[in-house]
Amino acid sequence: MRNQAGNVSFIGSFPTGWPVLGLPEIAFAGRSNVGKSSALNRLLNNFKAARVSSTPGRTQAINLFQLGRACAFADLPGYGFAKVPPAMQAQWKEMVEDYFSNREELKLVVVLVDARREPQEMDGQLLYGLTEAHIPTLVVATKVDKLKANERRASIAALRKEFHLRGDQCIPFSSVTGEGKNLVWDAIEAACGGKSAPE
Ligand code: GTP
Ligand code: MG
Repeated sequence: MRNQAGNVSFIGSFPTGWPVLGLPEIAFAGRSNVGKSSALNRLLNNFKAARVSSTPGRTQAINLFQLGRACAFADLPGYGFAKVPPAMQAQWKEMVEDYFSNREELKLVVVLVDARREPQEMDGQLLYGLTEAHIPTLVVATKVDKLKANERRASIAALRKEFHLRGDQCIPFSSVTGEGKNLVWDAIEAACGGKSAPE
């Protein structure tokens, strides 16, 4: 599956009416500006799949990408940006909940969190909702390049404790250094049924 990381096509940006691709799908979620698009680009060998923004809250629809015939990635719009008006936040919630409850091909939701921050309530709510819906989750703690070794250990431990995560369910990651990339791919491939998934 990861051998298709360089074979990416952008399917489109959809607020609703997502096309059925017939591929196992991995969604990427997280607060605005957490580094979702950067992480996606890093996983896809720096193919500039997703736009890296300096303005938080830019992505307003679900962006779909296809990796050959191996799998699809869905870049979900970021949440929790203070300057986004409440009506738009409600719209986000509706769109994403609709996606989570109706996207049959969804195999895993990768929830990105900022390793430099305390565990955030909104991330906890998202993880809780996904677990309730029996949707597998993976927490990727990004921007670890900005932390010292002891700080990152503390950060990962706090996330695991707060969100009740198994050891392999929280991965330290950096889009700058590429750290954690292989572990994230391992989790994606496992969620899609192993390396023998159709390509
Ligand atoms: P929205 O789509 O606006 O919600 O943002 P996003 O979550 O897609 O974040 P994006 O990838 O656009 O990154 C936001 C900012 O964080 C950019 O300035 C990135 O360069 C920076 N950034 C992202 N990932 C990392 C990382 O792993 N390390 C460091 N040092 N900076 C990062
Ligand atoms: Mg983005």
